[in-house]
Amino acid sequence: MSRETEEQFSDEIIEMKKEIMKCKKTKIALKKSEERFRTFAESATDGIVTTDDNGNILFFNKILKQIFGYSTDELSGKSLTMLMPAKFRKGYLNELENYKSSGKHRLLGKTVQTTGLRKDGKIFPFEMSLSAWKSNKTTYFSAIIRDITERKQAESEIKKSIVEKENLLREIHYRVKNNMHIISSLLNLQIQHVHEEESEKVLKDTQGRLDTMAMVHKNLYESSSFTKLNFKDYVEKLVFEILSSHRVNSGTIETELDIEDIEMNMETAIPCGLIINELVTNSVKHAFPELKGTIRIELKSFQDELELIVADNGIGLPKNIHLKITETIGLQLVYSLVNQLNGKLKLDMSNGTEFKITFNELEYERDFKSSSSYNGRMVTKNKY
Ligand SMILES: Nc1ncnc2c1ncn2[C@@H]1O[C@H](COP(=O)(O)OP(=O)(O)OP(=O)(O)O)[C@@H](O)[C@H]1O
Ligand SMILES: [Mg+2]
Repeated sequence: MSRETEEQFSDEIIEMKKEIMKCKKTKIALKKSEERFRTFAESATDGIVTTDDNGNILFFNKILKQIFGYSTDELSGKSLTMLMPAKFRKGYLNELENYKSSGKHRLLGKTVQTTGLRKDGKIFPFEMSLSAWKSNKTTYFSAIIRDITERKQAESEIKKSIVEKENLLREIHYRVKNNMHIISSLLNLQIQHVHEEESEKVLKDTQGRLDTMAMVHKNLYESSSFTKLNFKDYVEKLVFEILSSHRVNSGTIETELDIEDIEMNMETAIPCGLIINELVTNSVKHAFPELKGTIRIELKSFQDELELIVADNGIGLPKNIHLKITETIGLQLVYSLVNQLNGKLKLDMSNGTEFKITFNELEYERDFKSSSSYNGRMVTKNKY
């Protein structure tokens, strides 16, 4: 071998050694990176599975095996369809074909809830997010899978318990209404046996007030939430009842109702209903000696309060009347119910009688400071 050839040969050996070193380093780096990925995948609390673009399983972590109940050998290289109920298999394979031709997949980039098939044949719910990625022009799909069996069970327990509580609430309102009707019927019996006009009037008024409250409970058990009633419906029925109990014929006293579609709780609806009962009854009884005129009821919500108007275009209140200290109960009751609502009352007598009441929705609060007893009390809450 000539000296020249020898030198050239030696250079080539050095280059080859360099290349081998480079390869070794790359291999070590690759191994390290694979180890890091494995550690990450194995420490994950969700199942992870990677397939090729035909849906064959290439990689999976320990949790995935636990979720589906298979061993490593049973999963490696198999079709992912073995982890899904039969009805999903065709659709899954179609989506993979679709992705190959159009680059589109219905589930990519989304978190969806679906069902899986365990080795023991049990179907269970899981949550899955799917991603697609490319390496050396080959497409891979990776899915992160979370078994949500317990969450679903807890959800269905909560739903069951809500339905039970709603049924209980409905039953309570139903019974309260029935009890009020029983008291009202008892009063009716007594009315038939009293002879003094004054006593009859007192009993009838009390009966009217009871019926007004019973109607709140009736509307509540007919409502969907059992805690809030549709105030418009309630007022329409209440006014109808008041007019028919006073035998107001059509064509005599007219009513105009402008009630916003508001849901109201029982704590607010009862005092409101009682106020409307007193004021509309007064208009029917006192405002129209000629039995001709209009009663107007409005309820409007503003940003932080409600405004209730009960008005008539009748003869107006007697000039010297003081709401707080009337000898009769009706207007006194209105005054104290407005206080109960923490509301403000304005009286306008420029054209008949107009009561304007502004207030907030009340909320019932239980004071649990003492464990042996608690006091129910009313508080106002800014809701509107
Ligand atoms: N809308 C009205 N128009 C004209 N007068 C009214 C009107 N409302 C009340 N009044 C007068 O004010 C009085 C006091 O009313 P209030 O409601 O306190 O008593 P009442 O209706 O007579 O009896 P009750 O205690 O059964 O309600 C009435 O007796 C009536 O003279
Ligand atoms: Mg009255």
